Amino acid sequence: MPGFEWIGEEERAALNALMDEGGVFFAHGFTSMRKAYHVRELEAQFCEHMDLGNALCVSSGTAAIKVALKAMGVKAGDEVITQCFNFVAGLEAIVDCGATPVIAGSDATLNMDPAQLEGLITPKTTCIMPVHMLGVPAKMDEINAIAKAHGIPVLEDACEAVGAKYKGQFVGAVGDFGVFSLDYGKMITTGEGGLVIAKGQDDADTARHYHDHGHMNLPDRPRGRDRAAMPGYNCRMSELNAVVGKVQLSKLDRIWEETKKRYMALEKGLSDVLDGRAYPRDIPEGAEPTHDTFIFGTKDDDLRQAVIDHLTQTGFGTKNLPDAMEWHCSFYWEQFDFDIKTQAAVDTQALLLEQIAIPVMLGIEISAYEQLGQELAALIRK
Ligand SMILES: Cc1ncc(COP(=O)(O)O)c(C=O)c1O
Repeated sequence: MPGFEWIGEEERAALNALMDEGGVFFAHGFTSMRKAYHVRELEAQFCEHMDLGNALCVSSGTAAIKVALKAMGVKAGDEVITQCFNFVAGLEAIVDCGATPVIAGSDATLNMDPAQLEGLITPKTTCIMPVHMLGVPAKMDEINAIAKAHGIPVLEDACEAVGAKYKGQFVGAVGDFGVFSLDYGKMITTGEGGLVIAKGQDDADTARHYHDHGHMNLPDRPRGRDRAAMPGYNCRMSELNAVVGKVQLSKLDRIWEETKKRYMALEKGLSDVLDGRAYPRDIPEGAEPTHDTFIFGTKDDDLRQAVIDHLTQTGFGTKNLPDAMEWHCSFYWEQFDFDIKTQAAVDTQALLLEQIAIPVMLGIEISAYEQLGQELAALIRK
């Protein structure tokens, strides 16, 4: 997840320019002291770049999920279906709304298995939240079709997939709502930050009101005399984050292209051997991942350990699988008060324990990934 690798002079210049033009860090008001509204500009630039209907900048990806759930009207007593391979943030946001998480297991994409969805839907289900884990889009056609048949809105957690596409469309805009994270580990970063993408204008307005204490930001009123549309919260992004975000967004296409070149170089070396003893992660038809993580699995414990050792010794390292399984698999989340050890979770945990996730970094040459692919292929052939 390489955005932080490409932070430099442009971001520094943007921060200095913010200071020079008045140094207002707040997204609203202070009109006489400022020359621009950077959070609003970043929202407009995301909409233009990704052809989104509505984009709302917020303080984090976690906040984005909470704001989206609130805008969807998720409340106490509801059930939200999400997936076992996940990050704990989604569960926290669901529980924070008073709702109960319901966990779907994974298929070979490692994301939500659409075949399990029907069986999990109840009259209490008010949202389905697939998560595009480690940059690979979930099977959105199947998920959207089932959700539509039951009249349940879909919220895509695209926090780990900024820049990925599904059938030509940026993920985050494929469901009714989407969320991005701009935290320090993501494709592009503002340090902390996130976005809520809403298809419908009413939904977008509700999200905007909720994230800012209910403020309507009526243009004919000073902020102190503004009206509240609803009870809300503070999930605002600051101008500091937004000026960095604008520079990072302008780099997204190049980050995506350069990351893909390295991923493809690694894949080239491995393609012939990932068909038995080791197997690839399935990529859904029509999906264009972020390519910032290369994942393959093996049931052979010795081989898996040999691959992990090789990655450690050569400095490439591994990421979430297996390094942070406990934070990315709901099987472990005993801090929540719901049934975490369902059969779907047991099966998904076993599947995830077979996987090795290799970070794809811009600071490493393409040729080094080529060589790594050949070295890992030799290990698998042994
Ligand atoms: C899938 C997923 N959802 C949500 C989040 C939360 O994003 P943030 O760290 O910006 O709060 C993350 C962060 O790692 C994530 O990976």
